Amino acid sequence: MLLRFFFFSASTADQKPSIELAQLSDGFNAEQKYMASCFACHSTGAAGAPKVGEGMAVEWEPRLEKGIDTVVANAINGINTMPAKGLCFDCTDDDLKAIVEYMIESSQ
Ligand code: HEC
Repeated sequence: MLLRFFFFSASTADQKPSIELAQLSDGFNAEQKYMASCFACHSTGAAGAPKVGEGMAVEWEPRLEKGIDTVVANAINGINTMPAKGLCFDCTDDDLKAIVEYMIESSQ
């Protein structure tokens, strides 16, 4: 269903709300968003967060057994001490999915 991908975004540049046909936010960069919102917990493994970084696939394998969709849903909705949206409140669901994919890819 195409309509699902319409969302309102208020651009900070011109302050005019606009309707976009896009899955990711304007200027979205998964690595930057990861560094801004997720790095604090996921680089150190704070509170049992699965660590991100080279050689950390072992942290992710048991989680991925649930399927990537469940793992992404848990990032969006939160799970245990993992806060909803990983505290990235301007991230769309698709943004979060892209960040999760980035985290998994950079842990190989
Ligand atoms: C306050 C610390 C904290 C922040 C910030 C945080 N996380 Fe987490 N995250 C956790 C913890 C703790 C867990 C482990 C939760 C559990 O399984 O008990 C977790 C688990 C996860 C998982 C695995 C979910 C699963 O199904 O096993 C994903 C994916 C994830 N976080 C993504 C993110 C993303 C994306 C961000 C940033 C947008 C983020 N996290 C920010 C603490 C954090």
